[in-house]
Amino acid sequence: MSSLTVLGCMWGDEGKAKIVDFLGANANVVARFQGGANAGHTIVLQGKKYVFHTVPSGILYPQTKCVIGAGTVIDPFGLRDEMRSLMDQDIDFSGRLFIDERAGLVLPLHKKLDGLKEEKRGAGKIGTTGKGIGPAYADQASRNGLRFGDLQYPDWLCERLAALYESHGLKWENPDEELSALQEVWEFLAPFAAHADVLVRQWYLEGEKILFEGAQGSLLDLSFGTYPYVTSSNTISGSTSVGIGFPPRWLDKTLGIYKAYATRVGEGPFPTEIFNATADAIRKAGNEFGATTGRPRRIGWFDAVAARYTASLNGLSAIAVTLLDILGGLEELKICTGYWLDGQKLPGYAFHPLELAKIQPEYLTLPGWDDDLAAIRSLEALPANAQDYLEAIQDLVEVPIEVVSVGKDREQTITVK
Ligand code: IMP
Repeated sequence: MSSLTVLGCMWGDEGKAKIVDFLGANANVVARFQGGANAGHTIVLQGKKYVFHTVPSGILYPQTKCVIGAGTVIDPFGLRDEMRSLMDQDIDFSGRLFIDERAGLVLPLHKKLDGLKEEKRGAGKIGTTGKGIGPAYADQASRNGLRFGDLQYPDWLCERLAALYESHGLKWENPDEELSALQEVWEFLAPFAAHADVLVRQWYLEGEKILFEGAQGSLLDLSFGTYPYVTSSNTISGSTSVGIGFPPRWLDKTLGIYKAYATRVGEGPFPTEIFNATADAIRKAGNEFGATTGRPRRIGWFDAVAARYTASLNGLSAIAVTLLDILGGLEELKICTGYWLDGQKLPGYAFHPLELAKIQPEYLTLPGWDDDLAAIRSLEALPANAQDYLEAIQDLVEVPIEVVSVGKDREQTITVK
């Protein structure tokens, strides 16, 4: 038996889904433990594109069981549409998807509130994905929220929903319409409702291999990220246990994913951000546009100071470096090795957004490479400069690199021995 947690360790979009998909071949179970449809994953398999928001990407392996844990927040309508479109691509869900009844519900009013709150924030907006994630988690924390399992009890649902609208000072415009839509969506999703924590613990004890799939990234963690420019869930390794109901002492291994450069979507500090033609070239080559919102992602150099912080925060066993191929053709590459604030070098990462906004990064500059990496399948076959670049990352983050991704396809992956 074993468990592996796979986490994005920067601001999300590190290419987690590709790595989860690659490692999923060895997993019996793939489980999501936090977040919701703010996540957006695209997986390319033999040239065919699959888009995921809430469904664990392990569903692409016909024998793998998939879990949506209690720590997530689910938009039931969005989930139904996502499942239908995957069903249209011949993905079979029966007996393979388990949605914890205690997962929070994201309802239409949460999306509305997300938009209204952002509008009110004006220039101080967070740049959320607009998927209602913050308001849904806030309602869970304030104990006004509804949970997936509530959908099976219409009277209870009606009572709780009326109270929820009232708690937000909103008029419930179309109760009958909303309740019947919820009833309909429940009929579709009910076969997948489960007490997923019980199952996952049982499967683990029976010797199955469990892969926990993180969403967003460590620097978007509600407690340890660049607050307030964060998401509303905990995204770090400790969240696995809380979000599934899985004992922490059974967490065997944690793999952290870092992109070979840095990106961020939404507002908030980004010390190594660049705005020049190199940024444009990377954005174009890496197709750095949000899978959920289509927004262009902000681009920066690899930040080893932030990376070392998140590696330590998560207790990483190993790291995966993704999108290395995208850096091909650049004359030189930079890696941030130190933070300077008001003329002083900091001992590590900076925590306050006002400080992070003023950081002067110290850079190590390395020569780039021109070669196309797409067909390379071993570390030794990479151009020497690409090997040096990876070695610098490994030395600075102080965690061994175990996987390198050189393309979108499952096959375009190097396992480091
Ligand atoms: P929310 O999660 O929609 O509330 O958005 C809060 C912040 O997290 C915003 O900066 C979003 O752009 C960012 N965010 C949320 N989900 C993702 C993701 O899956 N990838 C990258 N950024 C994300």
